[in-house]
Amino acid sequence: MNPKKFFIETYGCQMNVADSEVVATILQNSGKYIYCKTIEEADLILLNTCSIREKAEHRIWGRLDNLKGLKRNNSSVIIGVIGCMAERLGDKLLDNEIVSVVAGPDNYRDILRLIDLACNNQKAVNTEPSLTETYDKIIPLRLDDSTVSGFVSITRGCNNFCTYCIVPYTRGRERSRNPQDILKEIIHLKESGFKEVTLLGQNVNSYYWKNDNEDFNFYDLLELAAKNNPEMRIRFTTSHPKDMSDETIKTIAKYSNICKHIHLPVQSGSSRILKLMNRKYDREWYMDRINAIHEIIPECSITTDIFSGFCTEKQEDHEETLSLMKWANFDMAYMFKYSERPGTYAAKNLTDDVPEEVKLQRLQEMISLQNDISLKSNRSDIGKTFEVLTEGISKKKNNELFGRTSQNKVVVFPKLNFKFGDFVNVKIEDCTQTTLIGKSV
Ligand code: 5AD
Ligand code: SF4
Repeated sequence: MNPKKFFIETYGCQMNVADSEVVATILQNSGKYIYCKTIEEADLILLNTCSIREKAEHRIWGRLDNLKGLKRNNSSVIIGVIGCMAERLGDKLLDNEIVSVVAGPDNYRDILRLIDLACNNQKAVNTEPSLTETYDKIIPLRLDDSTVSGFVSITRGCNNFCTYCIVPYTRGRERSRNPQDILKEIIHLKESGFKEVTLLGQNVNSYYWKNDNEDFNFYDLLELAAKNNPEMRIRFTTSHPKDMSDETIKTIAKYSNICKHIHLPVQSGSSRILKLMNRKYDREWYMDRINAIHEIIPECSITTDIFSGFCTEKQEDHEETLSLMKWANFDMAYMFKYSERPGTYAAKNLTDDVPEEVKLQRLQEMISLQNDISLKSNRSDIGKTFEVLTEGISKKKNNELFGRTSQNKVVVFPKLNFKFGDFVNVKIEDCTQTTLIGKSV
């Protein structure tokens, strides 16, 4: 029998991108399914979903609405919802008439059985959390056309229970993967022509593995990855400020192929709010970590996540956030407004008492401040030369390429004879708030 065709749409974070690759591998290795590039030709459609904010879930409901027409035209197509929303809502998703498969982040090894059940009109839901699943021994199939930059997950889940966050409930307890398996995956990427790998986890710097009484920490893993793959760039995300040790910062400084970029979500500049968030650090601790990074790696860029309007946030807390942003001079920030998530500590025990218009007003102030800071940060790069890893054709001009610096800034420059995957030295001549513009030298 010819294999059936499947299509996966991925929403949310990079962890989901990596997970979609795991699911694709499981489907394709079975010999029963083959990946296809357009949704119209698919016999099986999976939406890998995100629950981090209410808006993320709205998007999926909207997408399911627009897939109704496709299901009407082809009633045999199987539509499944996987990922965090599947975990959170479970069989309630089957109330939507076009959904017939539901699988949580720890249940992808069961996906073929679930699809078979759905094909036989039986209930196909598995959202059983696992304490051990890390999808070891599954070398992921790469879905995206890029063969320059890939992902390897090093931990799954999260133990931090920040009071606003749904992740510990949807992705379960934190588990680290065996360092030798991680290394094998990186080497596999390298042998397939990849030039960069991003080590992924909700909280990468709490990575921990114990081997015959030997401790293996995040910095040991960074060292193992960097030493064994000197021709590859190593990135990692996301780091938690409470676990950002001097040893890790020193390891980043020691290896030229470990990228000089740290994504360090601060969430708020107010120690009172950080305590309510259960972030386990205060404003001073965060500032001390930034100082340590600047001291040990002067050329390092720092980016962050922040959100406005957490429970009880007052104008003075918001002003502390703005003042911290100014002090830290983040090269880039992802900014949000608080969205209450059912089942979290905050939803159960705190009051979502900041009015929507105040959350929005504060968010806009944060965005406008960060826009100025990002532009200033980019302007300070004019005249400098950076090694850029070429990733693709620039979106605006097809005679230009784009790539990233070690600091993770996007650079565009004339194509000339360069190819994707080339390392090119580019001198920066101009910039916008989001992009550096230069010429190869
Ligand atoms: N509301 C708003 N933003 C949130 N984040 C996580 N949970 C919420 C929430 N309930 C943000 C945090 C986190 C990023 C991935 O999403 O800033 O770092
Ligand atoms: Fe959520 Fe906090 Fe874990 Fe990040 S560290 S995933 S914000 S609980």
